[in-house]
Amino acid sequence: MLLQASGIVKHYGVTPILEGVSLQIGERDRIGLVGVNGAGKSTFLKILAGELDSDQGSVSKPRELRIGYLAQNSGLAPQLTIQEVMNAAFGPLLEQERALGRLEARIADPAEQADAARYEALLAQYADANDRFREAGGFEMNNRIRAVLHGMGFGDFAPQTVVSSLSGGQRTRLALARLLVVQPELLLLDEPTNHLDIDTLTWLEQYLRTYSGAMVIVSHDRYFLDATVSSIVEIERQAATRYTGNYTRFMELKAADFAQKVKLYDQQRKEIQRMEEFIQKNIVRATTTRRAQSRRNALERIERLERPGTLKQASFSFSAERRTGKDVLQVYDASAAPVADISPPVQACRLRGQARRAHRAAWSQRRRQDDPAARAGRSASARGGHDPLGHRRAARLL
Ligand SMILES: Nc1ncnc2c1ncn2[C@@H]1O[C@H](COP(=O)(O)OP(=O)(O)OP(=O)(O)O)[C@@H](O)[C@H]1O
Ligand SMILES: [Mg+2]
Repeated sequence: MLLQASGIVKHYGVTPILEGVSLQIGERDRIGLVGVNGAGKSTFLKILAGELDSDQGSVSKPRELRIGYLAQNSGLAPQLTIQEVMNAAFGPLLEQERALGRLEARIADPAEQADAARYEALLAQYADANDRFREAGGFEMNNRIRAVLHGMGFGDFAPQTVVSSLSGGQRTRLALARLLVVQPELLLLDEPTNHLDIDTLTWLEQYLRTYSGAMVIVSHDRYFLDATVSSIVEIERQAATRYTGNYTRFMELKAADFAQKVKLYDQQRKEIQRMEEFIQKNIVRATTTRRAQSRRNALERIERLERPGTLKQASFSFSAERRTGKDVLQVYDASAAPVADISPPVQACRLRGQARRAHRAAWSQRRRQDDPAARAGRSASARGGHDPLGHRRAARLL
């Protein structure tokens, strides 16, 4: 067991957000944390990460557990460079590297060699420090930084590029890169796919799929969850329920659970109706009034089931009132660069009518190739049905 949260209670003012939520995270658990906007997902994740105190309850975890927490819309200090952001992830290792450098300088210093015994001790100290550095992955540090930066689309960026010059999506990617490079035993990711383009999203899916640690991912993207998690925790009405399986399985279980609740509710409603009719008919007749009274007592004792809510469904369509025949976008001879030279310049960009449709089709096809669920032929409308979370990916495709 990596982490255990027990009986977490959190209120903001008088508003209850979490009421006695518990969660156990095992060493290889891959959990998708879902719920409607404002359900308390980010609040719960912050409590798990130790960024926020709960009002009641406890989070137990080994003190040395490496947790990688990505906050929703996490901000990086704008003045830092890419290199500094990535290096910051390796704080203790960098200190070890500097200490090794100092020892190397001393070893090379002829003055240190004058006393043979002292020199021996120095060499032994260096060998020790070197072993510790190697065991902690120090020699792979720069390769790991390079590999993750490359995977996250920063391969062509100068290490001195400052955060303030990056777009919102690029900042999310860099925050993710910093997190992944230290390979935490537990990843807590709050909406990591926000602002990611399709290539980076695909890369992240693959990366997380083969990640050896545990993870809790908050996401509204069901395709991403299907590709990455094996159980779902839903926060609903301040409580958490855990379901085994990916997001698609969770929806099936929810639908089955809902159907069962509706069935039980209907059965009880009919039974109550029958009893009420019986009481009404028989209470005034002397011969049957005792039976009617005992039925009334039974009716009062019945614990009434709550009427099941509705499964959230979203369904919408758009129709064009008239075709305008006008170009939606025309850009000629556009060029843009944060610095003076851009090579090659964007010569001309024109996207309309057929080209626009072709671009969209290419994107959808690309997605189907990457996504087994989409390959299985689910339509955009199926994505919307019974699914409060499904709209974002659909919107991205359109
Ligand atoms: N610091 C705060 N002070 C007061 N209320 C807060 C605070 N942080 C969050 N809330 C409220 O608590 C509720 C839960 O917020 P939280 O951010 O955990 O939701 P969420 O499930 O992550 O939602 P979303 O899907 O929109 O990210 C919301 O109603 C929010 O407005
Ligand atoms: Mg949130």
